[in-house]
Amino acid sequence: MAENLIISDGTKEQKYQTLLQQVIALAENESDTIALMANISSMIHHTFGFFWTGFYRVYGDELVLGPFQGPLACTRIKFGRGVCGTSWKRAETVIVADVDKFPGHIACSSASRSEIVVPVFEDSRVTAVLDIDSDKTDTFDETDKEWLEKICGMIVG
Ligand code: SME
Repeated sequence: MAENLIISDGTKEQKYQTLLQQVIALAENESDTIALMANISSMIHHTFGFFWTGFYRVYGDELVLGPFQGPLACTRIKFGRGVCGTSWKRAETVIVADVDKFPGHIACSSASRSEIVVPVFEDSRVTAVLDIDSDKTDTFDETDKEWLEKICGMIVG
């Protein structure tokens, strides 16, 4: 695999395109889910400079913290709780423009202002979620959703 992350100049879409190509190359050469999540969280985090980027994995009725980049985070989230548990329950991406306006948002850090959570599927079952926090409001939109769903689609299990 490439040793260095390539970050494209240009629009958010161009950055995601370059990122996805590298994620595909990574996934072709590595089948271990944790190893993939570790590198993918690093690649997303360093491409965009988000506040926190990481995965929570499904264990029974809760999500358990997985590979991430950024400050310390809560380790366990129940089904349906917070933005992560809501994304898991709905089995769909959740975009929160202002975390203060999302009832039940779990504040791992008071610096987090907006958030996107994207589920990872094995067949139709959610096995993990990708959670990204920004320290600015209104960071994430349909472009992030589209590309992050493609990136999460490269992870199996
Ligand atoms: N804010 C999330 C909790 C995880 S941290 O942001 C890393 C939530 O409401 O589910």
